[in-house]
Amino acid sequence: MGHRFLITGGAGFIGSHTALVLMEQGHSLLVLDNFDNSSPEALERVKGLANGQGSLELIEGDVRDADAVEHAFKSGGTIDGVIHFAGLKAVGESVNDPLRYWDVNVNGSRVLTAAMERHGCRTLVFSSTSTVYGEPQTFPLQEQTPTAPIHPYAQTKLAVEQMLGALCRTGAWRVASLRYFNPVGAHPSGRIGEDPLGIPNNLFPFITQVAAGRREQLHVFGDDYPTPDGTGIRDYLHVMDLADAHGVTLDHLLQQPDSTALTLNIGTGRGLSVLEVVHGFERATGITVPYSIVPRRPGDVPKLEACPLQAKTVLGWEASRTLEDMCRDGWAWQQANPMGYRRG
Ligand code: NAD
Ligand code: UFG
Repeated sequence: MGHRFLITGGAGFIGSHTALVLMEQGHSLLVLDNFDNSSPEALERVKGLANGQGSLELIEGDVRDADAVEHAFKSGGTIDGVIHFAGLKAVGESVNDPLRYWDVNVNGSRVLTAAMERHGCRTLVFSSTSTVYGEPQTFPLQEQTPTAPIHPYAQTKLAVEQMLGALCRTGAWRVASLRYFNPVGAHPSGRIGEDPLGIPNNLFPFITQVAAGRREQLHVFGDDYPTPDGTGIRDYLHVMDLADAHGVTLDHLLQQPDSTALTLNIGTGRGLSVLEVVHGFERATGITVPYSIVPRRPGDVPKLEACPLQAKTVLGWEASRTLEDMCRDGWAWQQANPMGYRRG
């Protein structure tokens, strides 16, 4: 039988894909989102793709607003679990405006978990990040690799992980902090995908916008890293694999009779350089991506690559989609929605 889940930030990139997976599994969702970085159109499309499976209600509100969160817990039936996506994620912005990151990411999580505690809903999946490892020297990155965040974005995510760890030690809480590596791509329908405002910060949407002719060329940030081709290495995973991981994590947590605190890397275990991604995209789509090498971007590290074995052992989850899938699906979304949800 389906459960009822609260999904904060459910209109965003990862949230919308996860909402679809959960609806297809027959669950009822309540999305709380203030549309700070997303559009209600994403949820309309999710409902269309779910095609009558599960259900989705929306509360437009801020996760820092205790009244809005309280309203979510009081509307409709009991909430069986929460996925907390709502948060900010731009590294550079976090350096320039750290207080906003501490407020949205940390205070938002505090307001949410306080409401969960009040309502006796203590099952939570939290969106953490591989950037908590900072600039690691040894690989593969296991969950017990020391954390050493180097910017406020990662510091706030680690602070929430620690807050949730402390809650679990009070008993009764079942929490999974998922340390996502680099989610990319889109649902294969091309109906939902990543919709960055303005100039994309991230590699993948930048590549698809260059391929579409919206931007002239890709700037590759540095080719003098200690990596085989000198460009930065990241562990890119298909957003649908990441969405699946959330469904499996909720199932797992709901089966746990006792308090549970999980911290899991969510990646493929296969790092790719910037140039490998560019050439993979060219192979998958037949489109040439012009690029030039420019200086390193401040705050970037040479390499992040997951050891994903713990997620496989604990959850039975592993990424199955390839770089070609990520490129094909991301490109289909870009082509069908050249301006994202705004005029798509
Ligand atoms: P996103 O910006 O597309 O989605 C975040 C959603 O949260 C948006 O719909 C936004 O409107 C909403 N939101 C923001 N602040 C809010 C607030 N105060 N109240 C209510 N809603 C709010 O980002 P995403 O890529 O889907 O990321 C989801 C989560 O995963 C974030 O917490 C992010 O930090 C984390 N994460 C993302 C990545 C990545 O590469 N995309 C990697 C690691 C971790
Ligand atoms: N890069 C370029 N040119 C660009 C954009 C990126 O060369 O225009 C390079 C970067 O230097 C880096 C790689 O591509 O080597 C990936 O950069 P992204 O900006 O796509 O991703 P990051 O690893 O820097 O950060 C992302 C998200 C964070 C998240 C992190 C880990 O922005 O929110 O992944 O999950 F925490």
